[in-house]
Amino acid sequence: MIKTAIDWHIIGFGAVGQLLHGQLQAAGLSVAVLPRTGRTLATEHTVHSLQGDIKRYAIAATDPSHNDPIRRLLVCTKSFHVTQALADISHRLNESSEVILVNNGMIDRANLTPLIQGARLLFGLNTSGAYRVDDYEVVQAGQGQLRLGPGAEPDWFGRFQAAVPGSSWIVDIEPYRWQKLAVNAVINPLTALHNCLNGDLELERHSAQTQDLIDELTMLLAHQGFAEIAQTFNQECWRVIRQTSQNRSSMNQDAAQHRPTEIEFILKPWLRYAGEHQLAVPNLTQLYDLFRAHVSLTNKDT
Ligand code: PAF
Repeated sequence: MIKTAIDWHIIGFGAVGQLLHGQLQAAGLSVAVLPRTGRTLATEHTVHSLQGDIKRYAIAATDPSHNDPIRRLLVCTKSFHVTQALADISHRLNESSEVILVNNGMIDRANLTPLIQGARLLFGLNTSGAYRVDDYEVVQAGQGQLRLGPGAEPDWFGRFQAAVPGSSWIVDIEPYRWQKLAVNAVINPLTALHNCLNGDLELERHSAQTQDLIDELTMLLAHQGFAEIAQTFNQECWRVIRQTSQNRSSMNQDAAQHRPTEIEFILKPWLRYAGEHQLAVPNLTQLYDLFRAHVSLTNKDT
């Protein structure tokens, strides 16, 4: 366990957490990993880069219950673990800390505020495909983007950007959070339901259903007042499908391996919004119902 001041802490050591850990460490930044309470981590992990390099990185684990303050925290857990993960290290955050949520799905800010002790809350919107072939071995499947924001660009961002290809700073990130949520609401449940690659949504047997979902989400984005994002959503969603065509979406991987899925954080916020504003979304509603039925047949996700 290490005790000295560190540049970055990561909590959540799945595919995205491991990819970022390798990239930051390769750039010479000091990174520590916080295991979930009661868990221990291996001493190293392996990253297969997009270029085909295979590198091993040492894992410097730090005990969540220590008192050393955390300066910058990347939260890479599944959305349903975020609040517990923050509760476990809440005593180590303060007004100078920065907490970056890199998870998929929309989490209610009201649940986070009491946990982050006045820390600056940032978001990292990731479209890079990565999957694990083992607990401690991750393969980068595609070069996506990592958009971070909102507000003034912090002084550490230049070094972060040099370490993490495809990262950019977005001053007004809120519309992009909803854009990302909408992209995930199309790709993730549909690919899990059909157990297919992201790119298969372009095939004739899936493309009409995909388009119907894109149309409903475009309507919801416009209703939320994100006019520009709504105008380009059709193009953006098909672009991500093509760019990640060889990926198995995270929800497809979770459903196939009988793990809990993020459906309640990805699709449910849209159904809630539509319900509150009395907007008809038959395709999203049907997708949610089909997904729930499909998953309850294949695993115990609730
Ligand atoms: O959740 C995922 O898998 C990813 O966010 C994305 C962009 C859909 C690519 O697979």
